[in-house]
Amino acid sequence: MSMSHTLPTVQLAYEERGQGLPVVLLHGYPLDHTLWRAQIAALGDAYRVIAPDLRGHGASPAPAGDYSMDSLAADVAALLDRLGVERAVWVGHSMGGYVALAALRTLPQRVAGLALCASHPFADPPEKAASRRASAEQARREGTAPVVSGMLPLLFRPGTNLETVPAHLIRSMMLRTPPQGVAGVLDGMAARPDAVDMLRPPAPPKAILAGREDQIVRLADLQALVAELPHVALHVMDGAGHLPMIEQPEATTAALRAFLAAL
Ligand code: MLT
Repeated sequence: MSMSHTLPTVQLAYEERGQGLPVVLLHGYPLDHTLWRAQIAALGDAYRVIAPDLRGHGASPAPAGDYSMDSLAADVAALLDRLGVERAVWVGHSMGGYVALAALRTLPQRVAGLALCASHPFADPPEKAASRRASAEQARREGTAPVVSGMLPLLFRPGTNLETVPAHLIRSMMLRTPPQGVAGVLDGMAARPDAVDMLRPPAPPKAILAGREDQIVRLADLQALVAELPHVALHVMDGAGHLPMIEQPEATTAALRAFLAAL
C-alpha cells in the first residue's frame, strides 16, 4: 500500500457507512459532506461509503495558505491510509471533481474509478481565475458571507424557491465555511491545471453526472467533451441544476449505482 505523500496533509473529518467496494464522495465549494446525505444512506447498503469534509470545510482543519487541488487530494488519500483503503472509486461534486481529477493525476494507484457530478475537467479561463483570486482576498478581509452570498440562486435550477428546507440547509452550510477555507480553495481552484487529458485513457472507468439545468457547469460543454471521449458515460438528470444529489436524490443515486455496478 502506498503510504507516502509529499504534501503535508491534514486529518479530515468524515462520515463512513457500509461495507464493500470503497466509494469516496467529495463535496463541492463551499459545502461539506452532508451534501451527500441521501447517497451516503442509500449506497451504504452495498458499498463502503466514505464522505470527508475537505480541507477548509465542515469539521476539517482550515490551515492558512493556498490549498492546491493536489493537496486536497493528498488529504483524502491520507484518510484512506488511516482507514486501510488502498483503492477507492472517487465521486466528486464540482470542486470535489477537481480534487478527484487531481488524485487521478498525482495518485493514480488510489483511483479505481472516477465520477464527476456537476463538474468538469477544464481549467479556469484567465478572467475567472482573476475573479477567484479577488474573492479570496475579500474572504480574508471581510469573511465568508460577502463572498458566498450571491451563490445560492446559481446552485439550484432556475426558478427554485429558495425559502425551502434544502435551500436553507445549503445556505447555512456555505456560511459555516471558515474564511480561511473559502480563500484557500478559491486560490487553489484558480491555479488548477486543465485535466481533460486525465479523462482520455479508458481506465479506470469514468462517468459524468450532469444537471440538465446547471447554471454553473454548462451541459453543452460536457456534451461536446464526451463527444470526443465516448468511453466517458454522461448521465443527464432532468429537474436538476448544480446540486443533483439534493434536487434529484434518487436519480443521482441510481446513476451512481449504474456506474458502480459496471466496475
Ligand atoms: C463548486 O460548486 O464546487 C464550485 O462552483 C466549483 C467552481 O467554482 O468551479
